[in-house]
Amino acid sequence: MNIILLGPPGAGKGTQAARLQAARGMVQLSTGDMLREAVAAGTPIGLQAKVVMERGELVSDAIVSALIGERLDAASEQGAIFDGFPRTRAQAEALDLLLSERGRRLDHVIELAVDEDELVKRIVGRFSCARCGAGYHDSFRPTQVPGVCDVCGSTEFKRRRDDNEQTVRTRMVEYRAKTAPILPYYDARDLVRRVDGMASVEQVGAEIDAILDGTV
Ligand code: AP5
Repeated sequence: MNIILLGPPGAGKGTQAARLQAARGMVQLSTGDMLREAVAAGTPIGLQAKVVMERGELVSDAIVSALIGERLDAASEQGAIFDGFPRTRAQAEALDLLLSERGRRLDHVIELAVDEDELVKRIVGRFSCARCGAGYHDSFRPTQVPGVCDVCGSTEFKRRRDDNEQTVRTRMVEYRAKTAPILPYYDARDLVRRVDGMASVEQVGAEIDAILDGTV
């Protein structure tokens, strides 16, 4: 099964993709994570992407489509979760081609519907473990023991450079202008399923599970 998680910044795409990966053995393909890895490694792509990401704008279609193409072959038989990709009509068309070249198809596009003002709070409070990458939030998902990662026990945490209010607002403008308009492309193929992204992490997960299991 191959699915896209679609929604504005902070909608919960990464949270749900990580849960599905752990629970179902699907592979999370996050272009945001791939680009951050490239930035941290100082590769030519990373150097190009860094400035664009810090402004909250979109990196070029050619770069992100190539990144996804490289990783798609590693996706397990259980399938792939596209997290943050596609984000433009050109990327949606590139994904169709990448999948059909591999004899695969898209099963669902899950739209996480959210209230944008709430998203700023979600994003500005987000942090993750610097060692294992487990994700947390100052208010919604704090560590069980303050300052200690629940998963690996590390006491080092990090915050994303683009998680400030000004950049988040630009990321939302980009989403509305370039990404939301791809929904009709998938709607025409009856692939879009809408989930209430304002519900709790567990409820959102349960709604997604029901879609994947075909019980709704
Ligand atoms: P990317 O990394 O994809 O960021 P994004 O789309 O802005 O999404 P986020 O990661 O911010 O949010 P999310 O929906 O994953 O939410 P999360 O689960 O973390 O992209 C970053 C940049 O890279 C882009 O701006 C662009 O420059 C570039 N880029 C990436 N892909 C690209 C592409 N395809 N084309 C061009 N450029 C690209 O949740 C957020 C917080 O809320 C967390 O703290 C979480 O714990 C909490 N939370 C989650 N769900 C809930 C819930 N239900 N209730 C309460 N809290 C919740």
